Amino acid sequence: VSLRQYNTFNLDATARYFAAFHSREALEEILADPQYKHTRKLILGGGSNILLTKDFDGLVLKNEIKGIHTVSEDEDHVYVKAGAGENWHQFVMHCIEKGYAGLENLSLIPGNVGASPMQNIGAYGVEIKDVFEELEALHLQDHTLVSFNKEACAFGYRESVFKHQYKDQFVILQVIYRLNKKPVFNTSYGAIEQELERLGKKPSIRSISEAVINIRSSKLPNPAEIGNAGSFFKNPEVTKEKYEELKLAFPAVVAYPLPGDRYKLAAGWLIEQSGWKGYRNGDAGVHARQALVLVNYGHAKGEDIVELSWQVVESVKEKFGVVLEREVNII
Ligand code: FAD
Ligand code: EPU
Repeated sequence: VSLRQYNTFNLDATARYFAAFHSREALEEILADPQYKHTRKLILGGGSNILLTKDFDGLVLKNEIKGIHTVSEDEDHVYVKAGAGENWHQFVMHCIEKGYAGLENLSLIPGNVGASPMQNIGAYGVEIKDVFEELEALHLQDHTLVSFNKEACAFGYRESVFKHQYKDQFVILQVIYRLNKKPVFNTSYGAIEQELERLGKKPSIRSISEAVINIRSSKLPNPAEIGNAGSFFKNPEVTKEKYEELKLAFPAVVAYPLPGDRYKLAAGWLIEQSGWKGYRNGDAGVHARQALVLVNYGHAKGEDIVELSWQVVESVKEKFGVVLEREVNII
């Protein structure tokens, strides 16, 4: 089965076996099939954060579990459960329609609900951990159903337990989010305030969502037009000493202070300053409006993108002494 239509990098790898499931029962049936017992498995959502470097000699399990339900409420919160196969942005729009606050800053992130806790998706000052309540997952080997609360997920910046000790062990089936009845607006990040002003709108769940959508659309490439998986690298964290050293040598360095005397550097700036913005070699390139995003202009291979990513890492290391870490899941 060709995976081209299932990954936003638009890479042409194949999978030995492919199965989609709409329920836990259907998933269990697939897993019970003896032919798959000792086969490698890849759980797939929207394919917007993976880089396929070769054909997958195993079973791709496409999660299509749907459904959005309010499970309970209290004075301040609404608890909303969504199936892992729900499209993330459609889910955000559904909550905004209902007047539930907390997801507006996360508008227009590609992919599905099930992957949102995987890497604690984040944008414009909000991360999924801020609204996460609980998730339910099925263990791939022994088929037990396990609930994970926020603590058990061990969320960090683009991190969770599912990327580390439980890597490739659980299929996330559904996620419960704790949304606010009384919104707390977060407009401090980036250009949200300017965009609201330009729109002539006061902060509201809807206007913030609209502002985020506009800002994102102005710089991030649309995967329907140019293959990509969003930020290819993470924004690196450095010590105060390292930050001060950089600031002295490069006064324009873009950085944000973190708790504990650490700083987060804008990797996009480091990459741009290293001369890569808009670079293209064959069909692999560095996006012209956001240097943190690597792109496939058409027929690049996964390996071409990986090779380019190493060149970027090398040159940023040479110029700034900072080692970039990949954010995309390499398969
Ligand atoms: P996939 O790519 O299908 O999977 C990603 C990983 O999660 C894989 O390892 C997969 O095995 C695993 N996985 C997926 N579903 C499940 C499941 N149900 N159970 C267990 N494991 C699972 N991310 C951000 O955080 N912030 C952004 O602002 C952002 N902007 C982006 C912009 C663009 C243009 C693009 C293309 C991507 C962007 N991303 C961003 C990255 C991506 O959208 C998110 O990581 C998203 O959550 C991936 O969802 P997905 O369903 O496509 O996951
Ligand atoms: N910058 C440059 N040149 C560039 C790109 C960025 O100089 O080519 C500088 C600019 O000064 C800008 C700063 O970097 O002010 C930050 O850029 P931006 O606001 O575009 O965000 P980012 O740090 O590059 C992160 C996330 C995005 C998320 C945005 C908004 C990571 C790895 N990336 O990008 O997430 O949407 O912030 O919150 O943390 C993703 O994970 O795929 C993703 C797109």
